[in-house]
Amino acid sequence: MSTLPDDHKSYHIITYGCQMNENDSERLAGQLRKLGYEETRDMADAAIILLNTCCVRESAEKKIYGKIGELKRLKAANPNLIIGVAGCMAQKDRDKLFKKAAHIDLVLGTHNLHQLGELVEEILQSRERVLAVWEQAEQNAPDVPTIRKNQISAWVPIMYGCNNFCTYCIVPYVRGRERSRPLSDIVGEVRELGGQGFKEITLLGQNVNSYGKDVPGHADFADLLTAVDRDGTIARIRYMTSHPRDMNAKVIAAIRDGNHICEHFHLPVQAGSDAVLARMNRGYTVDYYLNLVRQIRREVPGASLTTDIIVGFPGETEEEFSETLNVIKTVRFDAAYTFLYSQRSGTPAAAMPDQVPPDIKKERLQRLMQAQNDISLELNRRQEGQRVEVLVEGDSKNDANKMMGRTRTNKIVIWEKTGAETVGDLVQVEISSGQTWVLKGHLRQPV
Ligand code: SAH
Ligand code: SF4
Ligand code: F3S
Repeated sequence: MSTLPDDHKSYHIITYGCQMNENDSERLAGQLRKLGYEETRDMADAAIILLNTCCVRESAEKKIYGKIGELKRLKAANPNLIIGVAGCMAQKDRDKLFKKAAHIDLVLGTHNLHQLGELVEEILQSRERVLAVWEQAEQNAPDVPTIRKNQISAWVPIMYGCNNFCTYCIVPYVRGRERSRPLSDIVGEVRELGGQGFKEITLLGQNVNSYGKDVPGHADFADLLTAVDRDGTIARIRYMTSHPRDMNAKVIAAIRDGNHICEHFHLPVQAGSDAVLARMNRGYTVDYYLNLVRQIRREVPGASLTTDIIVGFPGETEEEFSETLNVIKTVRFDAAYTFLYSQRSGTPAAAMPDQVPPDIKKERLQRLMQAQNDISLELNRRQEGQRVEVLVEGDSKNDANKMMGRTRTNKIVIWEKTGAETVGDLVQVEISSGQTWVLKGHLRQPV
């Protein structure tokens, strides 16, 4: 392989983890574009490769370390290549990464994201490696340009960090304490997105329901939702993630009364046993959660409900696990994201006694997924014969003759392409077949 010329300016970013990371990558891309770099899909062609990393579970980390190993070959072939590791794993493993992986030029922590541009220039000049990982966020980190991946749907961060310290979770350690963005900045960004033709936004935070609580007298999440809804420039407003403990009547009313806020509640329950929830430090009981669900169903009929569940939390007995099965059967979630508990060193749960053996965890996950799949299928079958409003997102991934989009309730819909639909349109689709993960149907008409 030949060495790429010095003036070759292209970048390739690989993003792992959650929506927050997706949005961060757009802001990493924005800084590189400002330096004159263009995106390339071919990693071997890039002058800068960035991995924006996640460490929420061991499986994510393993995958990323594997990728870092692979990059050694590219660096050997092209010594001018700049390799950067950013994000949550960079924050957590900073020194290990810097010392052990000599082919990495830049380790960029979660609080240093806005420095990418200047650090790349520094590396180009000095050809020295850089470790940029601050322990804490700066008070007023400057805004950086964003290059959005998608022209229909945009991420809008409303707050950073998390104060909850669920005992299994690494996020508060790598993302710091909660910091809310000013309401006027958020509304301004949303208005700008509306003006650019975006149809959907997702307000992002680790715990959006505690928006504003870090500033005395600040507007809260319900106020923010209402402000964004009233602005009226965006057809669909989504948000994630809600902590059940902080979801309240005011937020539910804002969703009920809003015109553009989608009727979808993602409320991670995590476990169905009060004892496990207490060990997880979740701050609510099963009864509280079921009450919240009843309230949502009463106030926002037809809303969809999804959740996250961890199986095999330390000390989880068969009895406690069966309580989780009971909860999913009682609530009847539209979908559940299910995870094997993963020990994260430094978190309280990692040091708890009675860690559940891997084979028991896996067997429980199988049973949980099976039970949930049956429920999802049943609920999706009920949509057969109905007409739903769908935002057209693009070609179906598996079949170029088909299109895909989502309902307001966040269900994926697939239909035979007619040529009458355009990406970004709101259309009516009649559902002919409800399946476990998707709804299939026929285009009826543009809305
Ligand atoms: N702030 C969000 C997202 C956190 S990470 C929230 O509170 O919902 C997304 C999901 O990953 C969590 O909801 C949880 O179900 C899962 N998760 C977090 N830490 C985990 C761990 N150590 N092992 C397994 N799953 C974990
Ligand atoms: Fe992790 Fe809990 Fe914070 Fe979510 S709310 S990021 S699960 S500590
Ligand atoms: Fe992963 Fe960091 Fe998100 S650990 S889940 S990328 S906040």
